[in-house]
Amino acid sequence: MARKKIIAGNWKMNKTPTEAVALIEELKPLVANDEADVVFCVPAIDIIPAVEAVKGSNIRIGAENMYFEESGAYTGEIAPAMLCDAGVEYVVLGHSERREYFAETDETVNKKVKKAFEHGLTPIICCGESLTQRKQGIYIEWIRMQIKIAFQDVTAEQAKKAVIAYEPIWAIGTGETATAEQAQEVCAAIRGCIREIYDEDTAEAIRIQYGGSVNAGNAAELFSKPDIDGGLVGGASLKADFGKIVNYK
Ligand code: PGA
Repeated sequence: MARKKIIAGNWKMNKTPTEAVALIEELKPLVANDEADVVFCVPAIDIIPAVEAVKGSNIRIGAENMYFEESGAYTGEIAPAMLCDAGVEYVVLGHSERREYFAETDETVNKKVKKAFEHGLTPIICCGESLTQRKQGIYIEWIRMQIKIAFQDVTAEQAKKAVIAYEPIWAIGTGETATAEQAQEVCAAIRGCIREIYDEDTAEAIRIQYGGSVNAGNAAELFSKPDIDGGLVGGASLKADFGKIVNYK
């Protein structure tokens, strides 16, 4: 069974609502491609105009984060039901920037993953090692641990619909992409870990992206690897280049 590629932009903390609509209008014709799922993960304040702007196109909207409670006294946070009501279908969880600057842990990521599924949102679950961990040769073990915690108490049926983004921290925003072989090695190990936790069907169904300095020049090679089902793209998702990444073939 061939997995459909999923190519997602992670806008991070860029673009005002007005700028977001302008960028979507610019990219809409460039990312028209039914062979892959195309997702724009945008800042919370851009979600409502972005959902409106993508109507009638192949683009789906994702959030960059959400909280794991239903509602209540959590000033500044956004609840899953709010995302759903606004027309969001995907949510990035556990991005390394959230872990580093906002103290997210594997445990909070797991709570968020379960909440996302309860609400019918598709989580894009991020994992990845630091440069030190890579040099120490413990990156596979580290990532297996991140995956095992993120998927605690997640059913096989849910896991089949999940998206995992392997993003080596040393490759994010640095221009230093992992080689296609390095990315494939870890994505295959992640699929193996899912096979151990669940079964062959789940491992074959789950989609695993690579992220970290993906651009129009390296997307085709990365996405041709057997265990790489697309990309999570930061910097290059804010430019016309994103169209080339989506149409990498
Ligand atoms: P980058 O970011 O493509 O700018 O390296 C990727 C990400 O953080 O998702």
